[in-house]
Amino acid sequence: MSRLRLGVNIDHVATIRNARGGFHPDPIRAAEIASEAGADGITAHLREDRRHIMDDDIGRLIGGIALPLNLEMAATEEMLEIALRHRPHAACIVPERREEVTTEGGLDAAGQHNHLKPLITKLGDAGIRVSLFIEPSPRQIEAAMSLGAPVVEFHTGRYAHAEGDERATELRRIADAAALAAKNGIEPHAGHGLTFDNVTAIAAIPQIAELNIGHFLIGEAIFDGLAPVVRRMRQLMDEAR
Ligand code: PXP
Repeated sequence: MSRLRLGVNIDHVATIRNARGGFHPDPIRAAEIASEAGADGITAHLREDRRHIMDDDIGRLIGGIALPLNLEMAATEEMLEIALRHRPHAACIVPERREEVTTEGGLDAAGQHNHLKPLITKLGDAGIRVSLFIEPSPRQIEAAMSLGAPVVEFHTGRYAHAEGDERATELRRIADAAALAAKNGIEPHAGHGLTFDNVTAIAAIPQIAELNIGHFLIGEAIFDGLAPVVRRMRQLMDEAR
């Protein structure tokens, strides 16, 4: 089985910074530490309301870190323009509602085909690897295929919040979806709500190539420091393969 990549989402370092304005703690410093501790990529979500990552952070991340940047973005003209200007390694299209606390569900790639198609084409033409953040369902994977997206990221929030039989069902849904995506030439990734306690089963799904993890890592870093926490997540992921 190939090595599973870890994308560290540094949004919530910016959340703490923005609580006081100013420059501390700096998400770019977090990205550097994550890189040294075994991250394979950095993920950042430039939200419409700029509640954590700000425009300036994107340029600093692209110019200042050695790792590839995965820019999470809503499917809007404003975000398209920013992505085309900065040309991150990857762009993950996410649904976004201003009132939500986090990205609460997957993108309706099936229902928004006509809106998404030109955006995906423009990003792809610019050499940006497009990923769609979707629920692990055959309908959404088929939509990703017809949209020509090379990557899908499965929203693991339901799995992360479920317990017992329900969790086993959600895990099966993700495993089946990963197999279906891979069979059709789409690289599956996964993320949302992953922790030390629930990552192993997701990391063991052989087709999944990358996990993007943020909130838990940054929260846990308050107690143990970012480098040890990233190293521990890396170790759990490697042990699961
Ligand atoms: N992947 C995507 C597409 C996301 O939107 C998020 C949340 O910003 C994550 C992964 C990471 O989720 P979490 O912060 O719960 O680890």
